[in-house]
Amino acid sequence: GYLSATAVAAGDNVSAASAPEQTITLLYGSQTGNGRGIATDLAAKAQAQGYAVNLVSMADYKVRQLKQETLLLAVVSTHGEGEAPDDAIELHQFLASKRAPRLEQLNYAVLALGDSSYEFFCQTGKDFEQRLAALGAKSIVPLTECDVDYDVAASQWQQQVLTAVKPLISASSANVVSIDGVSSATAATYTKQNPCSAEVLVSQKLTGRDSDRDVRHVEIDLADSGLSYQVGDALGVWFSNSDALVNEILSALSLDGTAQVTLADQSLSLFEALKDKRELTQLYPGLVQNWAQLSGDEALLAISEDRELTRQFLLHHQLADLVALYPVDITAFQLVELLRPITPRLYSIASSQAEVGDEVHLTVALVADEREGVARFGGASHFLATAAEGAAVKVYVEPNNHFRLPDNPQTPVIMIGPGTGVAPFRAFIQERAVQGAAGESWLFFGNPHFEQDFLYQTEWQQYLKQGTLTRFDSAFSRDQAHKVYVQHRIAERGEALWQWLEKGAHLYVCGDAERMAKDVHQALLDVVQQYGGKDEETATAYLEQLRRDKRYQKDVY
Ligand code: 2AM
Repeated sequence: GYLSATAVAAGDNVSAASAPEQTITLLYGSQTGNGRGIATDLAAKAQAQGYAVNLVSMADYKVRQLKQETLLLAVVSTHGEGEAPDDAIELHQFLASKRAPRLEQLNYAVLALGDSSYEFFCQTGKDFEQRLAALGAKSIVPLTECDVDYDVAASQWQQQVLTAVKPLISASSANVVSIDGVSSATAATYTKQNPCSAEVLVSQKLTGRDSDRDVRHVEIDLADSGLSYQVGDALGVWFSNSDALVNEILSALSLDGTAQVTLADQSLSLFEALKDKRELTQLYPGLVQNWAQLSGDEALLAISEDRELTRQFLLHHQLADLVALYPVDITAFQLVELLRPITPRLYSIASSQAEVGDEVHLTVALVADEREGVARFGGASHFLATAAEGAAVKVYVEPNNHFRLPDNPQTPVIMIGPGTGVAPFRAFIQERAVQGAAGESWLFFGNPHFEQDFLYQTEWQQYLKQGTLTRFDSAFSRDQAHKVYVQHRIAERGEALWQWLEKGAHLYVCGDAERMAKDVHQALLDVVQQYGGKDEETATAYLEQLRRDKRYQKDVY
């Protein structure tokens, strides 16, 4: 196995096999799995050096253990306007609260993940650093802030940490690694860096001809790769940029695609480098700034120096637009150096292996934009939408232990998934259908038009008929004069929904994080207030308790 480990029961994280002061506690708080990946990797490296490591999600960490820790490493990301990822919220709040104890006994290091396109870059990591220091803990490695292309900075931080740890704790031969309190002997052999080669079986349009959206149902054949997943997990998908896009950029810069470049000691053509190794479809502020400097263009410099102008520019421009609008003299090597490495995209898995065996299904919205008659697409969604039958694709599973069906198949579930947010619920329902689960299930779905955008309509109908799905509510936002969203349906069905919650239902939300998940949360709060007879504060506490009990889980992006 990747990490051969001794099983340690959850809640018993500090292993009896080694004294607590000999254990490195490695916490991660991560929305997309990047943080978890870095932490898992560091745990493996530390273990290889003989250290006992307790790797645990911040969501599962017992704050009262902080006083006992001597060495704490934290990898934490930041989302939206400086927000902590869901699994870090509680610890983040605790450290900032009056309840937080003095931590003079503690040595620590923090790795912050973020996206410099946002104003509050790495804010959660900065908060952790600042709070731990304020509580008297000793920093062993300075805070490291990582941008979207985090690989190099993250591995430097890992090295620094491993060096700093040496004089502090002794390696033991009886080292124990526990991951989320569980043995990780079955940890995936396929990872982001070592993905599985699979084959696209089907890529078919789910939305109608007259829809504003292009949403695809994609089926991938895992054949006998041995790759397996659980419902709730995400699939990481590596992709290639389109030939047309690469050629457009080359020609705008008058560069020769056959020119050789060297990347990580590997010699390849500029064309190949741009097609497979570099990010071409996600522009970001740093690149606009660099390009403005290179071009010396006054207008672009003005844009690059203003946060709001940059934000607006990024909304409707890709690299291909930037290079066409502001051509510069640049060598093949300079171009490749300037661009970020390509990164895989994560999709919530839309199938259950209990139903589809060696396949994995995705529900993919084609990211598309048009600027002055030129179509621009998202890298991975375009790759998947245009993939021919039999096309090769590299994938890996990103486990999501914070989006799981209840253990008990009798427990009712309420699933809220507008748009492609419905994907994991197709997986949930497939799983429950095969289980013959007795528990009730209720799905809320929303999209613009009934005629055009009713994703998997016939499947829901069949599940309803067969009884796997108990209730189904749809919100077709643009089929009437005023917008109707899933949260409006939640409000209308408030009484029944409250009864389901009181019966012990688990609540799941998947889809847009920016607005939908917040509006749905507010609608749920209103329901709990109105039908649970609570005021705002106790209703908030009620939902918070559901979250802690893992009865309110979100997969939002
Ligand atoms: P709209 O595009 O017509 O405004 C999936 O994208 C569905 O979610 C669409 O019907 C979309 O409606 C809707 N949607 C947009 N904003 C939303 C929000 N804040 N809450 C819930 N649904 C929303």
